[in-house]
Amino acid sequence: MIRILFVCLGNICRSPMAEMIFRDMVKRRGLAGRIECASAGTSDEEEGNPVYPPARETLSRMGIGVGTKRAVQMTRSDYAKYDLLIGMEQRNIAAMRRICGGDPGHKIRRLLDGTPRPRDIADPWYTGNFDLTRDDIVEGCEALLESLVKDLP
Ligand code: 4NP
Repeated sequence: MIRILFVCLGNICRSPMAEMIFRDMVKRRGLAGRIECASAGTSDEEEGNPVYPPARETLSRMGIGVGTKRAVQMTRSDYAKYDLLIGMEQRNIAAMRRICGGDPGHKIRRLLDGTPRPRDIADPWYTGNFDLTRDDIVEGCEALLESLVKDLP
């Protein structure tokens, strides 16, 4: 089983969107038994809070639900639990490295770094544009899944 943790700041917008979108892609490819994912935030600011309603509605328009997801803060023990820890923006990567005490296993990556146009995921907290965030996340998740599928035995 390949285990992936998607990480943003609050775990109420970007990383839950990435978790739900990626899980849906994995399921549609028939890989649900081989790849699993979760999400967390680098901050404890939103701990216990549900997915932010505009993020939930954006997923709902894609036919994707959020289940019982509540925000959780990432911990150092996540580094051992997951094969890849995928941040949404450069600032997340720095915080993730701090929380984990570095990245000795080269597990920490930025979601859009696997695409032809490496960049941060558009932050809807500032842009208010959840569709743009969704498009960025879909692009990053597709590239991530392709890279994983290539290496599957
Ligand atoms: P997220 O969005 O990191 O994508 O879940 C944010 C949530 C909360 C805050 C910023 C971004 N905040 O500043 O509280």
